[in-house]
Amino acid sequence: MSSAPFTVAIDGPAAAGKGTISRAIAAHFGFAHLDTGLLYRAVGALALDGADPIEAARALLPEALEDGRLRTAEVAQAASRVAVIPEVRAALLDFQRDFARRPGGAVLDGRDICTVIYPDAEAQLFVTASAEVRAQRRWKELSGKGDDRTLEQVLEDVRIRDARDSERDAAPMKPAVGARVIDTSDMSIEEAVAAAISHVEMCRGATAT
Ligand code: CDP
Repeated sequence: MSSAPFTVAIDGPAAAGKGTISRAIAAHFGFAHLDTGLLYRAVGALALDGADPIEAARALLPEALEDGRLRTAEVAQAASRVAVIPEVRAALLDFQRDFARRPGGAVLDGRDICTVIYPDAEAQLFVTASAEVRAQRRWKELSGKGDDRTLEQVLEDVRIRDARDSERDAAPMKPAVGARVIDTSDMSIEEAVAAAISHVEMCRGATAT
């Protein structure tokens, strides 16, 4: 296998399927994977504990990514609140860019990977789905972990986060011009993964020639 850098950049809103697709691409091609949302979730969790978010982002340690609370709905909202702060985003930039160019290939998923972190990524995807479908998926996931939020509350959370993520001034979420858009609303996981892998295959072919 070639050890040349090859970056797969995946953006999209909450619970659209980015995580599943990213992990499947990483496994299929033998690439490393970074869920960049975890960085913002870690800073959000530290801010909930009373830390200054900018200082927390500048001093973020790998251990902070292991915090068991990171997948909760409360931390998701805190993440999207700290993610509007330009200094927080700036503090996390170099780590993400270095990861994108690591030898052997990398998959990064988030909100601004194609638009800000690595716009030269060889393969770019924007994975989305309707707010209702995404809320349904997130609700199932959260109820499986014992969270008693109703579907309506989860839908409201999704809408608040969508608005905050796409209307902020710093790196707003939007499909990059060169990104292949995959709407997973009516797709099975297998179909969505297959569509994503076939796009990456095509981009790999284009890069090789
Ligand atoms: O897993 P889910 O899609 O619900 O969220 P996430 O990817 O873990 O991201 C949590 C929050 O972090 C998002 O709502 C964004 O506000 C922020 N985020 C960001 O601003 N930029 C990224 N590259 C990734 C996440």
